Amino acid sequence: MRKPVIAGNWKLYKTTPEALELVNGLKPLVVNNSRVEIVVAPVFTVLASVKQAIAGSPVSLAAQNCYWEEEGAFTGEVSPKMLVDAGCTHVIIGHSERRQYFGETDATVNKKIKASLNAGLTVLFCIGETLAEREAEQTLDVLKTQLCGGLEGLSGEQLAKVVIAYEPVWAIGTGKTATNDQAQDAHSFIRGVVGGLYGTAVSDAMRILYGGSVKPDNIKGLMAQPDIDGALVGGASLNAESFAAIVNHQA
Ligand code: 13P
Repeated sequence: MRKPVIAGNWKLYKTTPEALELVNGLKPLVVNNSRVEIVVAPVFTVLASVKQAIAGSPVSLAAQNCYWEEEGAFTGEVSPKMLVDAGCTHVIIGHSERRQYFGETDATVNKKIKASLNAGLTVLFCIGETLAEREAEQTLDVLKTQLCGGLEGLSGEQLAKVVIAYEPVWAIGTGKTATNDQAQDAHSFIRGVVGGLYGTAVSDAMRILYGGSVKPDNIKGLMAQPDIDGALVGGASLNAESFAAIVNHQA
């Protein structure tokens, strides 16, 4: 049985007071939900404050990115070890915005995943095709390339701490969710690729999240799909009520 994960990616939003207001509003709304793994991913500067605020609640803390070196002369970077120090248990790696605006490649994503796993973090590993790639019928090739590149050199054992997030780039922040069938098809393909690489024991246990305009009114249909194990939520995670409605969708 795969435990669902609902993760909120706050992106570049929320100062400390705003983040605390959000998380303090969220806590009482999800306090009784042990059915779902609940994660929030704020900006680096508020991680420690949010960590304090979520103490004793079912909410876990993620960062949105990291560097692959533990320490050194790498101005402006943050290492997985430092994320653990700040209270993170999870980290998002390879988000399409990082690939699109900050030059991340499958190779750098792979280094970041390895470094994060070595530090003990659970990785939310993002993949997904652009609209042009979907229209050119390259979706499955793109997903396979991103998967194989990102997971290269990892053992099946290490995959127990990897959660895959399928986020079609054309559905992010556009209000255009993939249909339940489109998402299910991609998720089933992803599980098949993981199964081909690592065997079905690993792929059956792998949580695969959908991301891209997830809202309280579409979460149920998505979660009813057999290969969708949760959601990575952007915009709707910035409000306590809407994120809690997504977390509690079946409760
Ligand atoms: P939206 O939910 O705002 O479309 O963002 C999705 C996303 O990118 C989560 O990582």
